[in-house]
Amino acid sequence: MTKITVLKGDGIGPEIMDAGLDILSVFKENGLFNYEVSEELVGGAAIDAVGKPLPEKTVESCQSSDAILLGAIGGPKWDHCKERPEAGLLALRKQLSLYANIRPIQVSEELVHLSPIKEDIITGTDFVIVRELTGGIYFGEPRELNEEDALDTCIYTKEEIERIMRAAFELAQTRRKKVTSVDKSNVLATSKLWRQVAIEVSKDYPNVTLEHQLVDSCAMVMITKPKEFDVIVTENMFGDILSDEASVLTGSLGVLASSSLSKTGIHLFEPIHGSAPDIAGQNMANPLSMIYSVSMMLRDSFKQYKLADMVDEAVRQVMKKGIMTKDLGGSYSTTDVTQHIRQELIEII
Ligand code: NAI
Ligand code: MG
Repeated sequence: MTKITVLKGDGIGPEIMDAGLDILSVFKENGLFNYEVSEELVGGAAIDAVGKPLPEKTVESCQSSDAILLGAIGGPKWDHCKERPEAGLLALRKQLSLYANIRPIQVSEELVHLSPIKEDIITGTDFVIVRELTGGIYFGEPRELNEEDALDTCIYTKEEIERIMRAAFELAQTRRKKVTSVDKSNVLATSKLWRQVAIEVSKDYPNVTLEHQLVDSCAMVMITKPKEFDVIVTENMFGDILSDEASVLTGSLGVLASSSLSKTGIHLFEPIHGSAPDIAGQNMANPLSMIYSVSMMLRDSFKQYKLADMVDEAVRQVMKKGIMTKDLGGSYSTTDVTQHIRQELIEII
């Protein structure tokens, strides 16, 4: 049977995970998608229970599952611990070779007024950032910090670039068929290779348009003309920065989900935000980031496109009625919003 490892984590992690699982269970109850859940510890919760942020049992469960759902990790409670909760997530990414982080940025009608950017600029924005997650300057050796100087190393192999390019082109084929490859090829050697490989890979996808953009220019266009983009593919550090910039377009972190893809076929799905300690335990977290993580899982891991569309449609209907949490200007609780989406989904089915 399909096995999903569930890592609720810390702060609002457990609250929003319960919401996501509640929505997923509608499909099980109706015989549309069968699965079993294995709940494991990670992050601060794991430190409290067994003294480390990523217990072997958790890794083993992930490695024997078909997909992984993660809530959020971290919080001030563990600030003074020897090992931090977040180390659990980094180790998990490494151990499961999660090489591609996919972050969809969609500004729906209901959210347009919440964005700090002018309405006519962002209305209709719909793009995806594909960020390389296991290479580049964050992992390069040697790395040195001396009294008078410091050193970081940026390395990319052709193989690493090709792998992420293919992920981007394949995604673009299912969308508006445009890839924007972002680099700094006027300066960096790794970016020159990046651009070469992008051109080579693009030959295998003749129906997809490839365009190159320098990262500084991309940062500007993302805010001034975000509708220009379909799929953006970029290296680790550029992707880290650009994806945080992109999250501003939608107005709230509470609606954004991401997937991290692995060549092993075991992918991980999680909200992009953290554990929101300021609102944890108050039943006020926005569950949409987790519910969208569930619909991404249905699409990317299980090819259940119809079911994923149903979830997204149920969310849209509920938002249209103004049933939203406080971060979106509403007055509903986490569980209220979830119950409304559940009802809507049952009607759609
Ligand atoms: P955060 O993303 O947890 O919170 C930033 C702001 O957004 C807060 O005001 C929070 O209340 C709000 N927010 C976030 N998610 C929300 C939701 N679903 N509904 C409504 N409001 C929401 O970032 P922060 O405060 O910098 O970090 C808190 C902890 O999370 C730290 O320990 C950090 O290291 C960790 N973290 C974990 C990540 C992960 O698990 N992947 C990612 C980012 C941070
Ligand atoms: Mg970041």
